[in-house]
Amino acid sequence: MNTVKNLKIKSGERVLLRADFNVSMDKEKITDDFRIRATLPTINYLRDKGAKVIIMAHLGRPGGKYNQEFSLMPVAERLGELLKIDIKFFEGLEIAEGEIDAMEEGDVALLENLRFDKREKEGSKEFAKELAALGDAYINDAFGVAHREHTSVFALPKEIKRSAAGLLLQKEVETLGEVINNPKKPLSFVMGGAKVDTKLKLVSELFSHVDQFCLGGLIANSIMKFQGMEIGRSWHEDDIEDLIKGVDLSHQKLHMPKDVVVSTEDTGKAPARIIDIKDIKKSDMILDAGPDTISEFSNIIKKAGTVVWNGPLGLIEVEEFARGTRQLARSLVRSKAKIIVGGGDLMSVIDDVEATDSIYFASTGGGAMLEFLAEGTLPALEVLR
Ligand code: 3PG
Repeated sequence: MNTVKNLKIKSGERVLLRADFNVSMDKEKITDDFRIRATLPTINYLRDKGAKVIIMAHLGRPGGKYNQEFSLMPVAERLGELLKIDIKFFEGLEIAEGEIDAMEEGDVALLENLRFDKREKEGSKEFAKELAALGDAYINDAFGVAHREHTSVFALPKEIKRSAAGLLLQKEVETLGEVINNPKKPLSFVMGGAKVDTKLKLVSELFSHVDQFCLGGLIANSIMKFQGMEIGRSWHEDDIEDLIKGVDLSHQKLHMPKDVVVSTEDTGKAPARIIDIKDIKKSDMILDAGPDTISEFSNIIKKAGTVVWNGPLGLIEVEEFARGTRQLARSLVRSKAKIIVGGGDLMSVIDDVEATDSIYFASTGGGAMLEFLAEGTLPALEVLR
C-alpha cells in the first residue's frame, strides 16, 4: 500500500484527506473525540509539509439528505480546539470550490457530512470526480469506514492521480495484521454493540479461528430471539438466519448472557432488575449484561493470550446500564493478555475505569476492524494498492 510518506507532497498542494469522524454524539455535543484525536498525526504531517488540508468525513446515517442533527460543525469546532487553529467549514462542494484557492499553506478545512449527498453511499463515479476536482492528492486515513464501498473511500482514489494511506490507516493495518497472523493463544473475542447485520456475518467467519467467543448487546438479543426465547421489547434484528450460517450456537466456545439487566424503559428512570434470561417478560427491555455473565466473560479475559473486544455490552449512554461494560473493562487491568479494542464508544468506558494502560491497541474501527480480522483486507485498502 502506498503511504503518505512516499507521496512527496509539495507546499501549497491541495490534499484531500478522508477521515473517520463518526464520533459519539449526544444532542449535537461530542461525547467521545477518540477518532478525531487519532487522525491528528496525519493532519499535522500534512500541515508540516505546507499542504492545504481539505478533510472529508461522515457522521451517522442521515439517509442522503441534510439533517442538522448530523452536521459535522461540532467536529470542526473540536478539531480547531485540538489543533489550536481556526478550521474552515465548507457546507457544500460549490462553496468549497470557491474557498480552497484562498486557503494558505497549512490551513485545514472540513467539508460538511458527505452522507448528506446520497451518492456517497452509492460508490458514485460522478460524485468521486466532483470530489477529486477539489484536490491534487488524496489520503485515506478513515480505517473505520474502509469496509464500505462508498464513494469517498472506494471510488475517489480511482479518479485522482496520487493517492495513499494516512499514518493512522497504516498503523491500523500493520498492528491488526500482526494480530491475525500471529495471535498469542487462546484468542478470545468479546462482541457487543449495535450494527447487528455487519457484525453477525463476521461472527460466522471468525468463529473457527477464535478459541472463546463472548457475545452481548444487540447481537446476543437477536440470537436469543432467533432461538425462540422471550426477549420482550429488546432491540434486536430479525431474519438473521443467513447471517449466522456456520455458527454452531450450542458450541462450548460460544458464551451468551446468562443473566441480564432489564427495565420497562431505556431512560434509566424506571426501576431496573437483574434476572435470569429465562425470566424475561414481554414488557422488559434487555439493557445490560448481568453480574454472572460479566464474571464469566472476565474469567475468559483473565485466561486469554489475546483479547479482541468490540462494542459495549449494554446501553452505556445511560449510567444505569453502563455498569456491565465498565465492570468488564476493569477486568482488563488484571489480564496479562494482549488486548485490542475497537470502535470509539468503548474507549470512553475504558478511560473512565483507568484501564487505558492495559490496552495494547485501540482500533478506530468497529465493523471495519472485525472485517479486517476476518478477511485480512478491506475494499478501501485494495484500491490503494
Ligand atoms: C463506524 O462508525 O463504524 C464507521 O464510521 C462506519 O459507519 P457505518 O457503519 O455507518 O458505515
